[in-house]
Amino acid sequence: MIKGIIFDLDGVLLSTDEYHYMAWKSIADKLGIYFDKQINNKLRGVSRMDSLEIILGKNNSFSVTEKEMLAEEKNELYRTYLAELKPSAVEKSVRETLDKIRALDIKTAIGSSSKNTRYILEKTDLTHYFNAISDGNNITKSKPDPEVFLKAAEYIGLPPSECIVVEDAHAGIDAAKAGGFTAVAIGDARTHSQADYKINELKELLKIIA
Ligand code: BG6
Ligand code: MG
Repeated sequence: MIKGIIFDLDGVLLSTDEYHYMAWKSIADKLGIYFDKQINNKLRGVSRMDSLEIILGKNNSFSVTEKEMLAEEKNELYRTYLAELKPSAVEKSVRETLDKIRALDIKTAIGSSSKNTRYILEKTDLTHYFNAISDGNNITKSKPDPEVFLKAAEYIGLPPSECIVVEDAHAGIDAAKAGGFTAVAIGDARTHSQADYKINELKELLKIIA
């Protein structure tokens, strides 16, 4: 019996991938490191610092302070793009799906690795759809660790066995399964073999919970 839905944000409710890509690309270019959209795909669901480590590659010689400065620089750039976000960045069918879910006896939460979650939700007028927010600010371990989803379930007062997680990242499906959740894959995560359901559009979620 599904009593709660935990949504990843980036790539599930709206697409900020291009903004992440542009910001990381400019850091990589500055450092003379090759970076393309395929590498950007590997950063889905991965925390900011872990993403930087992937871009810099193993055995890089940057100090912790230098890495923190690079991550901060990326975030400042990313936030200049986010500042342009408007409610129209969320597809009409996504908003309609959230409206329908809110009319049911189902608790909703966000489970995102992003520390910019609340800013994005506010800019796109999505905040009111969720009973709780678990994000990059309340976790110590990033996806594929289940912490962000376990916290979200705790915040809405439900056990993982009664919650669905909706994810577009492979790391997110790993995290959902590791936490004992039902995993619904959308977008890039649809190729994950462990997903319990695969959907093309968010509105298909309504059939799963019916
Ligand atoms: C996730 C994105 O939602 O948030 C990742 O899929 C990103 O690509 C991560 O690295 C962290 O985001 P932020 O906003 O804290 O830098
Ligand atoms: Mg995502």
